[in-house]
Amino acid sequence: MKEFNDLGDFQIEEVKALLELATRLEHNPEPRALAGKVLALLFLSPSLRTLASFQAAMVRLGGGSFVISPDMSIHGLETRPGIVMDGMAAEHIREAVPVIASYGDAIGIRAFAQRENLESEIADEEFNKLKELCDIPRINMESAINHPCQSLADWKTMDDFGVPANGGKFVLSWAYHPRALPLAVPSATVHMAAMRGMDVTVLRPEGFELPEPVMHKARQAAAMSGGSVTETDDRAAALEGANIIYAKSWMSTRHYGNLPADAEARRGREDWCVDEPWFDTAAADARFMHCLPVRRGVVVADRILDGPRSIVIPEARNRMYAQMAVLHQMLR
Ligand code: CP
Repeated sequence: MKEFNDLGDFQIEEVKALLELATRLEHNPEPRALAGKVLALLFLSPSLRTLASFQAAMVRLGGGSFVISPDMSIHGLETRPGIVMDGMAAEHIREAVPVIASYGDAIGIRAFAQRENLESEIADEEFNKLKELCDIPRINMESAINHPCQSLADWKTMDDFGVPANGGKFVLSWAYHPRALPLAVPSATVHMAAMRGMDVTVLRPEGFELPEPVMHKARQAAAMSGGSVTETDDRAAALEGANIIYAKSWMSTRHYGNLPADAEARRGREDWCVDEPWFDTAAADARFMHCLPVRRGVVVADRILDGPRSIVIPEARNRMYAQMAVLHQMLR
């Protein structure tokens, strides 16, 4: 494997093979599998889970890693093309990325969304520019429109908890949040659940529709897997029979790049906070998922996060096993 940038680059059977490998490595450690291998980790935005789980994954497989982020570069790190560098930053990403890549056997890149131009973000232009600067195997650690490592871990988590694939109902619900958040996780998640063969409902208020290219990609995946994809603002209908309620906030797509208009669109939507009544008509064993970090009492009530429905901790732990499988296939 030379790239892990998008679950959509893989056949369903290839994803299942990765998941089998992840489970094998979980139960049968291979502490020397990647001895002598180095993973470079470039973070252009903050992280807890991705940072720690990739480092832990490499150690558990016998390899090593190093982390670079703008905060860690004493020279400052400029990312803008064509800039006259007469400000604080003394290092440009165009030199920094190839140099970092030259120290590693593979590189993970996190390039967060700018939240300015929707077309550019759907095309993942920032991430693609960065990855073109390195000639070693590359992993998307979250870009403007994708988070394949999160999706692989989410798929494994549902398998681990016996959540039905074909015939299972997956509700990706928009949630209130005080800030305008990117589309990476919702876009990756709707595609992943469709690829797993689930009946996917995107539940969101008006103005927060997922972009048509994102929905089109998910519908194509559903056509291959036997699943389905719909979108609605009817909460009662969406939640009925749900096996999974996956909460995530994202910026208003109708007002993308316009923060005041986005703030206006989310104003008064504080009731989009997942709580026990959301599960009233869901499946009896319905589960709550979230990629984390999550704002308690804003996105989801404490009693859900702290109760038996929540599987967010094993979901986060599975980031490590899923990434171990990716690294094993990439670097062995
Ligand atoms: N879910 C996720 O990617 O978490 P971090 O932003 O902490 O890495």
